[in-house]
Amino acid sequence: MSVNVDGVDYQDDVEPRLLLVHYLRDRLGRTGTPIGCDTGNCGACTVELDGVSVKSCQVLAVQADGGRVTTIQGLAGPDGAWHPLQKAFHEQHALQCGYCTPGMIMAARDLLAENPDPTSEEVRDALEGNLCRCTGYQNIVRAVLAAAAELRRHGAPEPRGKAADLPQATGQEARA
Ligand code: FES
Ligand code: FES
Repeated sequence: MSVNVDGVDYQDDVEPRLLLVHYLRDRLGRTGTPIGCDTGNCGACTVELDGVSVKSCQVLAVQADGGRVTTIQGLAGPDGAWHPLQKAFHEQHALQCGYCTPGMIMAARDLLAENPDPTSEEVRDALEGNLCRCTGYQNIVRAVLAAAAELRRHGAPEPRGKAADLPQATGQEARA
């Protein structure tokens, strides 16, 4: 399969049954995407596949063939500046253990791409597939609304392209 992950092209032989989340974590070393339930219920493993948020434990790696995957590790700008969602989660105290945070942020990013000015009800609806066992959700909603306002004012930073600070990839980086 050929896939672009966080701006880097990879070509890999994978077993047809390999899940995307295991490909990202075990083959590419992108452990910023956690596994919670492995059954599609918690949302912790959410990434973006061709612009749409998906639970990567419910997608086969081969389904990403020819596609573009963005993980939480691809959101920061080229200078390492946090994405407004990452900043807002930090500033609004929207995480405690942080296990749900990558998935929350990726699902929220999908929402804000579709709806740049959501109500708090719309934020809650969009995140209903993402579970948090720590925060009670209030600050998460607050953070998404704060990030939405920031994105409306200033837009999103350009993605980093090649994420230099990622762990060493074990997949085959494509030779251009
Ligand atoms: Fe994928 Fe829980 S680990 S939804
Ligand atoms: Fe712990 Fe959400 S911050 S699960």
